[in-house]
This record gives sequence, structure tokens and C-alpha cells, in this order.
Amino acid sequence: MSILGKVDRIESSFPKSIRLTKICIRLPSCFLLIFVPNNKTSDMSTANQFGKKGWTPDRINDLTGKTFVITGTTSGTGYEATRILLSKGATVVMLSRNPKKSADTIALLKETLGDAIKVSNVQMDLGVQASVKNAAKEVSERVTGIDALLCNGAIAQVPEQQITEDGWESQMGVNYFGHFSLQALLLPLIEKVNGRIVTVGSMGYDMGIKTIKFDDLDWDKDYTPNDAYSQSKLAQIMSIYELQDRLEQAGKTNVKAYACHPGSSRTNLISTSGSFMMKMIFGLMKLSPLTQPAENGAYPELMCATEEDLDQKAFYGPTGRSNWVGPVGAHYLAPHAKDKAVAKKLWDLSEKETGVHWNF
Ligand SMILES: NC(=O)c1ccc[n+]([C@@H]2O[C@H](COP(=O)([O-])OP(=O)(O)OC[C@H]3O[C@@H](n4cnc5c(N)ncnc54)[C@H](OP(=O)(O)O)[C@@H]3O)[C@@H](O)[C@H]2O)c1
Repeated sequence: MSILGKVDRIESSFPKSIRLTKICIRLPSCFLLIFVPNNKTSDMSTANQFGKKGWTPDRINDLTGKTFVITGTTSGTGYEATRILLSKGATVVMLSRNPKKSADTIALLKETLGDAIKVSNVQMDLGVQASVKNAAKEVSERVTGIDALLCNGAIAQVPEQQITEDGWESQMGVNYFGHFSLQALLLPLIEKVNGRIVTVGSMGYDMGIKTIKFDDLDWDKDYTPNDAYSQSKLAQIMSIYELQDRLEQAGKTNVKAYACHPGSSRTNLISTSGSFMMKMIFGLMKLSPLTQPAENGAYPELMCATEEDLDQKAFYGPTGRSNWVGPVGAHYLAPHAKDKAVAKKLWDLSEKETGVHWNF
């Protein structure tokens, strides 16, 4: 069990009033996370195909005429990825849930890059399947092809179990089922221009129970914020490798699918959905050298959306200590993320749960 998982379990046995004890347990565990090396996951020995500095956006050519659709653009890595794509001449359709925040984001992007940028927003709440379906329809009416769909938006470390209106645990509903349906519904537009699907996962895939809890998918028993978040990110990653197999079986090798993660980046993730305690911990972590700016966190997804000659079977992210920071490239992926039996079962369950069927 990961340190965060253990802390979750210890905490859940306390009465809610014992705040100070919880802080005392949380803080050392946070520093343990920072200072305990994790050499299994950081594969420094493999040469980075992009050289010592790893992949950077300097490699992106002119993107005029290319269209990118991205979820979760109002802050963090999604905002940075949008800004960089636009700066290279791309057309970007943002899928954001909050109209005020998306208008503010567009205003900021125009202030930064000029009024001529080609950006628009389609309102979409990843946690509501009807909204995802409406948004996919609106995108289909707005663009003729999608060069890359970047599945970036997410919530994390939700303190108590919450259930979406479609009936799923909130992190599974937003991060996984929302993107599962979106990808399926936008596939025709992606296929039209030999495009890509890019999933932004997390090193959390290797924390928690490291599989899918099929007998209690919504964590009605033993809910912990970290286990539930980790499951949703594992599900996102697993479904990308399963998608690759299904595309290949259907002879649709013109569509590529990639899995990546942003390492440990200074974004709003925990401050949006995490508990007071987690906000405090990650606030402290942001001060450590083992976190990086949000812009660097956007590099893996930008690379997967634009770079030629990538390996679909790889997992891309920072290659430095614990894969939290450092040069971007391919690195170790634990075998449970490619457990075929679990991935197949998850896929079949996801089509049944969402009612969305992939038209291969
Ligand atoms: N930061 C890290 O260290 C880290 C580590 C591992 C993985 N990640 C992954 O990186 C990705 C980007 O996260 P971030 O760190 O940049 O966090 P962030 O700053 O909080 O950005 C998350 C984005 O997702 C959007 N979002 C949340 N719930 C949504 C919903 N129901 N419908 C539509 N959009 C929704 C947010 O929109 P609102 O503004 O409306 O809330 C926001 O734009 C996520 O997939 C996350 O799991 C991050």
C-alpha cells in the first residue's frame, strides 16, 4: 500500500474532531513521499530519444490548419497546453464546464497571444454524461476533423465519497467515464484526419489497489480519496492500451492513442477538489524542488499530441526522480496497467455503464 493510502486508512479510523493528530500524521508522510527515492519508477538508465533535456515544445512545427480539442483548460496543464498550441497557430476547441472561467481563460489567452488566435469553448461537464454527449455533438458541428483530443481535465483527492448524477463515484465519473464517452463519440472526427487520442494519467496509477475494484467500483465500502483517485487514473491509462488493441483489430491504425502524465506539477488540482489537509500538504510540496511549473507538466501531453514517431505502447512523462520532474520521455510502466483481462472487463463494463458504444 502507498504511503498516501496508509495515511488515508489511518485517518479514516479517527473521529473527525482529531484534526491535530491528523496533521501530525499527514505532514511526515508528505515529507517521506518527497525524500524517499523511488528508483523503480524513474528509469534514468534508458537514453531519452529527445536528448538530455528531453522533449520540449521547441520541437512543435507550425500547427496552422490543425485542430485540437482539450478538456480542462481553465487552469494548470490544460491552460498551458492550450496556450502553447495556440502560439504555434493551431485551432483549439476548449471543453470546459464553467462559462465564466472559460470566458476569462479566452480573454487571458487573447491578452497573452493576441486577438487573432483561433480558440473557442464548448461547455461540457465531464461528470455529466448528457453534457458530454451534447458537447460531442456541438464539436462535430463546429469542426471537420480533430488532429488530437487531449483528455486532460480531472478532479483529485475528493475528501468524501461523492456520487455523480449518473451514479458513479465522482473521480471515476469525471476522470474516467467522462473521457471514455467523449473519446468514443469524437472518434469519427479523429479518424477523418488520422488523428490521436491523448490521455493524461498520473503516477497515481501505481498507488492504491493497483487494479479495478469491480465488486465495488464506487467505493461504497472503504472509500479513501487516494484509492479512488488512483483507480480512476489507472482506468484512464488501461483503456488507452486496450483502445490501441481494438483499433488495430479493426484495421484503424491511422488513429493513434497515447498515455502520459504530468509528473508533480504546480496546478490547482488539489485546491479545487482536495480536503483542507491535502491542500495544506500539497501547498508545502509546491515549495519543494520535487514539483515543477504547470508549463512543464503540459509537455508530455503536448508531445503525445504533436510529435512524430512515438511508441504507443510506451508511457510518457518526466523521467527524473520518481517521475515527478525532469526531462520528458518514455519511462517504466508497471505491468498491472496492461493487465489484458482487467482492461477488457473494464472496457465492456464501461460501454454497458455509459451506454456509449465505440463504432470501430
Ligand atoms: N498537477 C499534478 O501534479 C498532477 C499529477 C498527476 C496527474 N495530474 C493530472 O493532470 C491533469 C490536469 O490537472 P491539473 O494538475 O492541471 O489540475 P487543475 O489545474 O485543477 O486543472 C484541472 C482542469 O480540469 C477541469 N475540470 C475538473 N472537473 C471537471 C469537470 N467535471 N468537467 C470539465 N472540466 C473539469 C478544471 O476545470 P474547473 O476550472 O472548472 O475546475 C480544470 O480546468 C489531470 O488529468 C490530473 O489528474 C496532475
